[in-house]
Amino acid sequence: MFQCPHCQNSLIIKNNQATCSNNHMFDQAKSGYYNFLIKSQKSFKGDHPSMILARRDFLNQNHYKPLIEEIQALLSPLKPKNLLDAGCGEGYYTNFLQNHMTFCTFFAFDISKDAVDKCARKNHEIHTFVSSVNSIPIQSGSMDIILSMFAPIDFDEFSRVISNQGYLLVASAHPNHLLELKELTYEKVKIHTPIHLKDPRFNIIETKDISFTMLLQQPDITNLFLMTPYSFRTRQEDKQKVFDKASLNITAHFTLTLLKRV
Ligand SMILES: C[S@@+](CC[C@H](N)C(=O)[O-])C[C@H]1O[C@@H](n2cnc3c(N)ncnc32)[C@H](O)[C@@H]1O
Repeated sequence: MFQCPHCQNSLIIKNNQATCSNNHMFDQAKSGYYNFLIKSQKSFKGDHPSMILARRDFLNQNHYKPLIEEIQALLSPLKPKNLLDAGCGEGYYTNFLQNHMTFCTFFAFDISKDAVDKCARKNHEIHTFVSSVNSIPIQSGSMDIILSMFAPIDFDEFSRVISNQGYLLVASAHPNHLLELKELTYEKVKIHTPIHLKDPRFNIIETKDISFTMLLQQPDITNLFLMTPYSFRTRQEDKQKVFDKASLNITAHFTLTLLKRV
């Protein structure tokens, strides 16, 4: 299933070590993941550890359960044998799906070693590795589904790795996502533009909007704010408004797009 990130030859996994016929070797970390990032890819480290912790603590409260249940309802009937979570973070969604779709083998990677380590510790059944979406060490045509939850997309790599007639499920934030949180911190709220998901190698077969309101208290309000990119762009005095808010109704609004490899 794995291919060498240096020479693309098959990797054989034996005694906690992945080796190719050119003798490129990768040791398994104690928590169970492999680090397949090569030197030239190591400069970008992915999400900041503070974002990873905030996201883990927020998601573990299951506020986004309606989203993951909807994803499970979309993916289960497709009966995949292999599913790859690309940009898995600390593995909240993959872990849920692995627990509910036991007929499927799960693979998950992220460019952040910190995040993958947390994912690997959470669930030993998931094959976890550190890698970039721009060079995925997985053999061509071997995944029935790639799941991309709020993570970067590389259509060249995704179309190579997904099997013929396989699927790509993309979760993205709707322009109205977390509007109340933005209203709290910015005088003038900028609505972001939705991501563009057009590629000739994929047909869009279904688009679904999911929206629900969460009544949040602390520390969930702060964690939700800190797991978003706004936390890096907001002035300290505006951040304080979030930290001081005792409770807040916040609307989560997502778009799920299911694409099929043609
Ligand atoms: C918004 S987070 C989403 C994490 C997870 N999918 C979730 O929804 O909880 C985006 C993730 O993409 C990862 N990421 C960013 N650039 C990446 C790349 N080039 N290759 C793989 N992962 C990347 C980040 O480290 C981060 O964990």
